[in-house]
Amino acid sequence: MTLQPAHKPSDSSKALYGGKQTRRITVHDIAAAKERGEKWPMLTAYDAMTASVFDEAGIPVVLVGDSMGNCHLGYETTVPVTMDEMTLLSAAVVRGTRRALVVGDLPFGAYQEGPVQALRNATRLVKDAGVGAVKLEGGERSLAQTELIVQSGIPVMSHLGLTPQSVNTMGYRVQGRSDEAAHRLIRDAKAAQDAGAFAVVLELVPAELAAEVTRSLHIPTIGIGAGPDTDAQVLVWTDMAGMTGGRVPRFTKQYANLRQTLGDAAKAFADDVAGGAFPAEEHTFH
Ligand code: KIV
Repeated sequence: MTLQPAHKPSDSSKALYGGKQTRRITVHDIAAAKERGEKWPMLTAYDAMTASVFDEAGIPVVLVGDSMGNCHLGYETTVPVTMDEMTLLSAAVVRGTRRALVVGDLPFGAYQEGPVQALRNATRLVKDAGVGAVKLEGGERSLAQTELIVQSGIPVMSHLGLTPQSVNTMGYRVQGRSDEAAHRLIRDAKAAQDAGAFAVVLELVPAELAAEVTRSLHIPTIGIGAGPDTDAQVLVWTDMAGMTGGRVPRFTKQYANLRQTLGDAAKAFADDVAGGAFPAEEHTFH
């Protein structure tokens, strides 16, 4: 039997995205959405104010991604991000949200030593920042880490395909193009599911392969550069809102031009100050 991607219009009273509930989304809501065949969006956020905008817009899952390295902290890659930085910014995002499930990334070096290190750092993100789940890169290679974290009561989101923490060995290119790489990706996805992961991010993989992985898992797939047939889609917020300077990846869609808007506002402020138009009488106390 061939399974088709199950995308049905959803009953909005039950919907994960745009639903009416005010309590936080849980991994059970995410599992139920897959059963209903309901697609949902995830965005990254790195501060309380931006996260509150996404929460009010009904984004059900907010990822405090280690993309904070390039998009918020001024590093060239995600590799230098530390647990201290991740904990501080995750706590801010949790404080800025009321409804979204907040997922904190385990940065490079925070789980590669083994399951005990992984559990220690996942626990820190839950206790000190208040996240509802953690994300880590790798399928089979992170199996023991995923198992121990999940058994300890912390939901894990897995990340496969292009895994930016491995940029020094992998580069930034589409993954899973050869038969062998495609089989490895499918094995990794099943390993993550069997280890107890509640969802799998698929980054930069061919659409047909992402669709096959999505059909073969009972947990949801979240695509980024993985075509239209994953259960959910994630974008880095600065790319989505046009805040990122320079070239953005082809798979991203820009829904606003915040960089231009903010730059124009800053120039208008500078002109007003130089020309004496700000502050005016209404901004002044006597
Ligand atoms: O760090 C991040 O923002 C991510 C997303 C690209 C999935 O891992």
